[in-house]
Amino acid sequence: MKVPFLSFNRMHAAIRNDLVEATARVIDSGWFINGREVEAFEDAWAKYLAVEHSVGVSNGLDGLELSLRALGIGAGDEVLVPSNTYIATALAATHVGAKPVFVEPNMETSLLDLDRLDLLESARTEKTRAIIPVHLYGQAVNMERLMEWANNRGIWVIEDNAQAHGAEWNGKRTGSWGHANATSFYPGKNLGALGDAGAVSTNDPDISDAIRRLRNYGSDVKYYNREVGFNKRLDEMQAALLRVKLALLPQWTQERQKIAQHYHSELHEIGDLFLPQTAEGATHVYHQFVVRTRHRAALMKHLADRGIGSLIHYPVPPHLQECYVELGHRKGDFPIAEQLAEEVVSLPIWPGMTGAEVQAVTKAIREFF
Ligand SMILES: Cc1ncc(COP(=O)(O)O)c(C=O)c1O
Repeated sequence: MKVPFLSFNRMHAAIRNDLVEATARVIDSGWFINGREVEAFEDAWAKYLAVEHSVGVSNGLDGLELSLRALGIGAGDEVLVPSNTYIATALAATHVGAKPVFVEPNMETSLLDLDRLDLLESARTEKTRAIIPVHLYGQAVNMERLMEWANNRGIWVIEDNAQAHGAEWNGKRTGSWGHANATSFYPGKNLGALGDAGAVSTNDPDISDAIRRLRNYGSDVKYYNREVGFNKRLDEMQAALLRVKLALLPQWTQERQKIAQHYHSELHEIGDLFLPQTAEGATHVYHQFVVRTRHRAALMKHLADRGIGSLIHYPVPPHLQECYVELGHRKGDFPIAEQLAEEVVSLPIWPGMTGAEVQAVTKAIREFF
């Protein structure tokens, strides 16, 4: 049985009529930018997160960048980011002229380790202005400890919530803890648009106003520009489609968690295979189900030979990327991130996957080990 790494077919088949209706509504409205659809989605997303404000933006990277700009972070500043994140987290700091400073994650959770404040302290300097915790793969970082640590030091917190829509730390959703929080609605995310899209959420009206202005040419009033802004807006079509899909997010999250449960019960204690661990206090919404093994290449080939998709998130940590040669890092600087990059592999996990498909994956993996 073939199992693709990711398929939208079943997710979208169930809501196709609603998606088509939303598209038609936008076409018929004759209004495509900064209109009612964006407002309605922003309200719905703010409600979902239980925050005061949400501002639709063009994508996740732009959301992170505008958050940093709204907080006044720029040249000469340093921004702490995990050493094992997707490149966008670090790029946002670079784009505003700041320097990304990497902090090692916990090997078992792949997240910033708030039991290891020494790691944060050794990365912190008098130039540190912000930290971007990443709820990588869908698990919430310990935001209580992180907020306390950062607030006590006057450091801004911007959550990167691209991968964790609906996850919680101690009952409070990711994307509602930080001073500003960015997310991506890239199609493959738990809540995905049918193109590029993102949002910033915050409880601070000044931050929300600043981002609204910055995303729209630095303008509050049409053709009057207060600052040198950008065009980084969410459009009406994606907002309308996202609102249809948001209604299904709780159900899709449950499906992901159920698949993860099957993987856990079928794959524990077999060979050299480490399963993802969820910390006490956190929930995991399994944007990815990421396992670790020293036999990764052989396992991926074994799965591919049986028509089963798998991917590596991510093969090269940011500090070793060609684009960051100028930061002067070398192999060995962040050994945990480097080991993760060598050993992680993500298994198929998507709403609509059948029990038989999940079983085909676990059977093939058990066979391998
Ligand atoms: C952790 C993380 N941060 C940021 C981004 C950037 O989002 P986008 O692709 O919408 O720019 C992504 C996904 O692409 C991501 O996974």
